[in-house]
Amino acid sequence: MTLEASLREARARLTHARAVTVLTGAGVSADSGIPTFRGADGLWRNYRAEDLATPDAFQRDPTLVWRWYNWRRELIAATHPNKAHDAIVEMERRYEGFWLITQNVDGLHPAAGSRKLSELHGNIWKVRCTACGQVVENRDVPIAILPMCRHCGGLLRPHIVWFGEALDERDLDRSRDAAQSCEVMLIIGTSGVVYPAASLAPLARASGAFVVEINLDPTPASGQVNLSIQGRASDLTPRLL
Ligand code: OAD
Repeated sequence: MTLEASLREARARLTHARAVTVLTGAGVSADSGIPTFRGADGLWRNYRAEDLATPDAFQRDPTLVWRWYNWRRELIAATHPNKAHDAIVEMERRYEGFWLITQNVDGLHPAAGSRKLSELHGNIWKVRCTACGQVVENRDVPIAILPMCRHCGGLLRPHIVWFGEALDERDLDRSRDAAQSCEVMLIIGTSGVVYPAASLAPLARASGAFVVEINLDPTPASGQVNLSIQGRASDLTPRLL
């Protein structure tokens, strides 16, 4: 199928849908200048996730982990939502039943105006106390190392789901509901290798949804979706409207 024919087919499905769920990954923010995790220039090529994004790493060396997050905060603070983020905001306005599930922690979806969303892996602009559990917004760039809780004096950590940690149950339930109840699911810019996020597209498909993937490259999910369209998220997502 040509690119134009694929886009036409996706648009036709969207035109008749009332419930649409979108699942996004780092590829959506790549066009805003934020590095992805996997692939040629991916963060996990140059950094060891087990030294930076696990509870053990934080316990061992919280300063190192906070330095890495400060580097990412600085990088993300200089970026803006792109046309893919904007198109997803427009979809939220258009569809009666809409839910956005993002694995991105950069906060660019809410910055663009998305409100009906689950940030499955947390948000880099939030911190959580390791002692009392309170979550607060913190937009300091850089954040003072080591940051302490104003409430109880405990050590603060990024409010991000690290490897080996469980996702927030409410977010996961809401996301599963959105996957099971939608007529069309769009999966945009994710390698689809991190669970449980990667289980949502098969769940949608098994529940009868038409699943469309947009990605620069083929992924392990490409063979299991109804339509796989290759190209940039910021180019193709607006063309689905
Ligand atoms: P990955 O880095 O694993 O995958 C990014 C995907 O985006 C790849 O499939 C690329 O081909 C695609 N891509 C890159 N640029 C693109 C563009 N301009 N347009 C469209 N697609 C593009 O990122 P995620 O799938 O989001 O977890 O990774 C999932 C999780 O793994 C992340 O949330 C993160 C990471 O460890 C945490 O930090 C908790």
